[in-house]
Amino acid sequence: MNNINGETKVFGLIGQGISGSLSPFIHNSLSKYLNINIVYVCFETNNILDAVKGGYALGIKGFNVTAPFKRDVIPFLQNIDKKNDEINSVNTLLYDEKGCNGFNTDYYGFLKSLKDNGVNVKNKKVLVIGAGGSSVAICKVLENEGVKQLHIANRTVEKAISIKNSLKHIQNIKCTDLNEIDSEYDVIVQTTTVGFGKNNDAPINVEKIKKCEVAIDIIYKKNNTTFLNECYNKGMKTIDGLDMLFYQAVKAYEIFNNIKVDEQTLLKCKNDLYKKAYE
Ligand code: ATR
Repeated sequence: MNNINGETKVFGLIGQGISGSLSPFIHNSLSKYLNINIVYVCFETNNILDAVKGGYALGIKGFNVTAPFKRDVIPFLQNIDKKNDEINSVNTLLYDEKGCNGFNTDYYGFLKSLKDNGVNVKNKKVLVIGAGGSSVAICKVLENEGVKQLHIANRTVEKAISIKNSLKHIQNIKCTDLNEIDSEYDVIVQTTTVGFGKNNDAPINVEKIKKCEVAIDIIYKKNNTTFLNECYNKGMKTIDGLDMLFYQAVKAYEIFNNIKVDEQTLLKCKNDLYKKAYE
C-alpha cells in the first residue's frame, strides 16, 4: 500500500454490494507503479445524493459510480462530459471547485474489451440482456460499431424501449422481457446484475439459444457466472467482464489525474490483476 499521509488524495467507488470489487486493486496498483499519492476505497451507500454531497464536503477528489446509480447520479452533476450527452449514464465523477463533473468510461472499457478479444459486431445480430446504466453505454458502442439487428431484453421492458429511443442508427431494434428470447444470435452481452456476488442465478434460459458464436458477461467472477458457464457448455466463445473492468478503471484513473498511463505501467497492472483474479 502507498504511504498514506496528510497529503494523500482520496478517490473511491460508490455503489451497492461492492465489497468484493477489484476496482481498489486496479487503482491502487496504478498509483503504486506511478508513485502518485492516492488511496482508492469502496463506499457502500444507499443514497447517491448524500454520497455526492458528502464527497464534496470532505474534499474527496473523485468517484467511480456503479450499480444502481449510474443514471440516478446524473441530476446531481454540475457538468457532464460532452461525449456523455449521448450516453446518458455516468460511471466517473471528478470534483472541482464548482461541483461534480460526470464522465462515462464504460463505453471505452467495453469497446477495448471487444477489440482485445477479437469480437467484430459489424452487421451482426446482437442480444443485450439488461437495460440498466451499463447497458446504455454498451448499446451505444454496439450502435457505433455497426450492429445490424439489436434485441434488448430486460425485466422492465420500458427501460429497454427508452434505450431503443436513444439509438438512431440501428434500423432493427426489438425490446422484450427476459422470457422472449430468439434461438439464434451472433453475439450476446449480459449486462444485468443477476449472477453478481453470491447470486448464482442466470437472467435468461440459455437452453433457448440454439446458435450463437460469442457470449460476453460484463460481470467478473472467479469461476464465472452461471450464465457464462452455461454458454460455454453450449460451445460459445465466452468473455467475462475483467477486461472491461480494467480498461474503464484505467480511463477513470486518467481522468482523475489528468494523465495518460504509459503502456509499460498498463501491462504491469494488467498482469497483476489477472494474477489476482484468476490464480
Ligand atoms: P448497472 O449500472 O450495473 O447497469 P443498474 O442500472 O442497476 O446497474 O441495472 C441493473 C440491471 O439488472 C437492470 O437491467 C435490471 O433490470 P430492471 O431494469 O428491470 O431493474 C437488471 N436486474 C437487476 N436485478 C434483476 C433481477 N432480479 N432479475 C432480472 N433483472 C434484474
